[in-house]
Amino acid sequence: MTPEQINLVQQSFSKVAPIADQAAVLFYDRLFEVAPSVKAMFPADITEQRRKLMATLAAVVNGLPKLESILPVASALAKRHVAYGAKPEHYPVVGSALLWTLEKGLGDGWTPEVASAWGEAYGVLSGFMISEAYGPRPQAAE
Ligand code: HEM
Repeated sequence: MTPEQINLVQQSFSKVAPIADQAAVLFYDRLFEVAPSVKAMFPADITEQRRKLMATLAAVVNGLPKLESILPVASALAKRHVAYGAKPEHYPVVGSALLWTLEKGLGDGWTPEVASAWGEAYGVLSGFMISEAYGPRPQAAE
């Protein structure tokens, strides 16, 4: 990620932070709508889950300028997710629900540049998490 993209992710996330609770509700509603089968993997009461997700996202967003500082946490998180039943193919679904939520939360602030910075950030994070949890995969042919 470029320093400009990191800035865009951090600035846009700070605008969503004050509405983190609503954003988390939107996120899980969207996720369970587009991927109903995923719902059974979560506890019935996801109140605590919402808080943890937003706290982790905040930590990742803060850590972006110093990626190596967040990689151990991301690696452990990815490995715990294997036990939750997460599969590599779930990551893009979660990513698109996350970007959809940010788009709703940011309104006019969701510019093409912000969208592509978030796409990049989620791509880096999820690619790392997938390879930590399931092992490196060959890159898809162009
Ligand atoms: C970058 C992507 C993701 C982030 C940042 C993230 C973050 C979190 C966090 C912070 C928790 C709280 C529990 C813990 O810390 O271990 C959690 C739990 C959970 N996540 Fe994720 N997650 C991600 C991707 C996914 C994916 C792809 C799935 C697959 C459907 C998933 C399914 C779950 C489930 C089922 C739980 C609840 C486990 C339980 O409490 O029984 N997550 N996630």
